[in-house]
Amino acid sequence: MPVGTATAWFHPEDPALGRVHWVAILPELQGRGLAKPLLAQVCRRLRELGHTRAYLTTSTLRVPAICLYFTLGFRPDCAGEARRRDWRDFLGRTANEPRAKPLRDHLAQLDDATHNQSRKQP
Ligand SMILES: CC(C)(COP(=O)(O)OP(=O)(O)OC[C@H]1O[C@@H](n2cnc3c(N)ncnc32)[C@H](O)[C@@H]1OP(=O)(O)O)[C@@H](O)C(=O)NCCC(=O)NCCS
Repeated sequence: MPVGTATAWFHPEDPALGRVHWVAILPELQGRGLAKPLLAQVCRRLRELGHTRAYLTTSTLRVPAICLYFTLGFRPDCAGEARRRDWRDFLGRTANEPRAKPLRDHLAQLDDATHNQSRKQP
């Protein structure tokens, strides 16, 4: 019986870069630990196909998916003001979500680093 879906895809311009795409677990089966092994298998498949790094795109509104990706080693892209704003909104939205804490801590560190760097500028 199918429980979900995920795709190992590729970046059209960078052969080193694999893409994780179309990830979902059936709603009635979510929250049972099925997504982690599914995603791990996708990452193994990307490696078999010769990709040395992986990326994905999603919306910062998808909190469960973002927490999942972070636990598997994906890190947020905070380049550009629009993305930084989205991640700040994410921080606000997940203030009471314990599973988002590791990512929240990571984002806070990035924010500190940016702040310290800008203070060093003459
Ligand atoms: C994202 C999704 C695939 C997770 O599937 P799942 O089988 O429920 O996830 P798991 O039970 O394997 O949990 C794995 C991790 O996901 C995160 N997670 C799952 N549900 C979460 C929730 N409600 N809130 C925050 N984090 C959550 C946690 O990091 C969890 O790890 P943990 O259990 O060690 O804390 C599922 O919620 C889904 O299909 N969502 C709809 C489709 C979607 O948004 N796809 C992503 C598009 S980019």
